[in-house]
Amino acid sequence: MRGKVTETLLTADQIQKRVAELGAQINEDYKDTELFGVCLLKGSIIFCADLVRHLTIPVRVDVMRASSYGGGTESSGSVKILQDLDVDISGKDVLIIEDIVDTGRTLHRTLELLSVRHPSSLKVCSLLDKPSRRVVDVDIAYTGFTIEDKFVIGYGLDYDEYFRNLPYIGVLDPNG
Ligand code: XMP
Ligand code: MG
Repeated sequence: MRGKVTETLLTADQIQKRVAELGAQINEDYKDTELFGVCLLKGSIIFCADLVRHLTIPVRVDVMRASSYGGGTESSGSVKILQDLDVDISGKDVLIIEDIVDTGRTLHRTLELLSVRHPSSLKVCSLLDKPSRRVVDVDIAYTGFTIEDKFVIGYGLDYDEYFRNLPYIGVLDPNG
């Protein structure tokens, strides 16, 4: 295992409190309908699992996987869909559940691909946002935390597939 956690950016308590707030807001905003959650693999698995347990509205969840980083810490320009949804989303109120928006490329492409399937609505909920790194503009309806340009791991986010299990979010030194 490479890399070392050098700083705790968000504690488990801070994350849990904010996830509960996001859940409450989503319950309110979608109270007259039902939600179709799209969990973007793999980084969002923990966030999605916690978020949906705060939802009291009818909710379904499916997963989708887009390529982004490979093994390193830098995003590439081309984004591929590695695993698509099982279900037709036309007419549904779709909420993409994402771990972090960095350059915005992954999300932008995912939004393009899903919008042509005619969902009733299509919005994004991202636990983390790194706006200073944005290359492509994307509209994020629900943001957990806005963070600085640091490579973070934990709570689903990985470095070389490690660290997803941490209950907090930390800053990684890849050479540590
Ligand atoms: P883009 O650049 O397309 O990237 O917005 C989004 C995806 O890149 C991953 N990502 C990170 N993963 N720590 C991580 O573990 C980070 O600081 C980080 N920044 C971006 C992530 O998978 C996200 O979905
Ligand atoms: Mg990742």
